[in-house]
Amino acid sequence: MRVVESLPGMREVSAGLRAAGGRLGFVPTMGFLHAGHLHLAAVARERASAVAMSIFVNPLQFGPGEDFARYPRDAARDRALAESAGVDALWMPTREAMYPEEPRVTVDPGPMARGFEGTVRPGHFTGVLTVVLKLFAVVQPDVAVFGRKDVQQAALVRRMVADLDLPVEVVVAPTMREADGLALSSRNLYLDAGARRRAVALSRGLQAAVDLFRSGERDGAALAAAARKVLDAEPGIATDYAACIDPATFAPAARASDACVVAVAARLGATRLIDNVLLGEGLEGDGRLAG
Ligand code: PAJ
Repeated sequence: MRVVESLPGMREVSAGLRAAGGRLGFVPTMGFLHAGHLHLAAVARERASAVAMSIFVNPLQFGPGEDFARYPRDAARDRALAESAGVDALWMPTREAMYPEEPRVTVDPGPMARGFEGTVRPGHFTGVLTVVLKLFAVVQPDVAVFGRKDVQQAALVRRMVADLDLPVEVVVAPTMREADGLALSSRNLYLDAGARRRAVALSRGLQAAVDLFRSGERDGAALAAAARKVLDAEPGIATDYAACIDPATFAPAARASDACVVAVAARLGATRLIDNVLLGEGLEGDGRLAG
């Protein structure tokens, strides 16, 4: 595995991987890799002949009161995990290399960023799309893989690629979960034992919405309410939102279909977690670690 820091270095490695013939797959991350990230690398590997991964904790997508400074970082561990996942090139740019100065031109994520994560985290998706566009510009992948775990982000990346005619195929891979259903996240590290136990309420809430959908309910508000009820019943959890969403527009869906997602966000003390389920697939459609 090649490990690269500079932008010109990555351009060169990337060009080499593309020139070797075939397609280049790309998995952008903020590191502290877990099985969810590694699953994205495996999906990229299935769809490409070489795989590049980036690790960059992007300051532009963190709000002033957010966890940029304490976001977990472990370069040595990430390197070993990326290598074990068969990544061919690992790009770990510095903050100074990515942003030699404060960018004046950024990506306007538009109306799909107004609700949900965009409401709670103003400016977040401008930061995400700006860095994803920059990463694409350097790596120039044929296919890029994102996780459904961050479903609004995935929807926005898809839409940016379509609206700006970027020559990259976007693949959205299912969420990888712990044996008890909790979606893997670098931020799970922040949970103490009690909060970790309560955190399973997010996936239990999603399951309640799926059960109701399968019993024939198609009212989006009713499905969202079923998820919220489970979260609200759990002491120590503050629900930010529970919603049934049309992923094409990222607007609440009045009438739910298989293509809609039910998404939740909740705070357990200082830790904020998000999760969602694709109604047509249910939680069975996601990946799960052995117990
Ligand atoms: P990060 O949170 O590190 O996530 C990197 C990728 O892994 C994203 O596409 C995310 O959706 C996916 N992912 C996270 N948890 C997952 C899980 N449990 N199962 C499957 N995939 C999962 O998302 C970001 O970084 C950043 O916003 C980034 C796109 C890198 C831009 O800075």
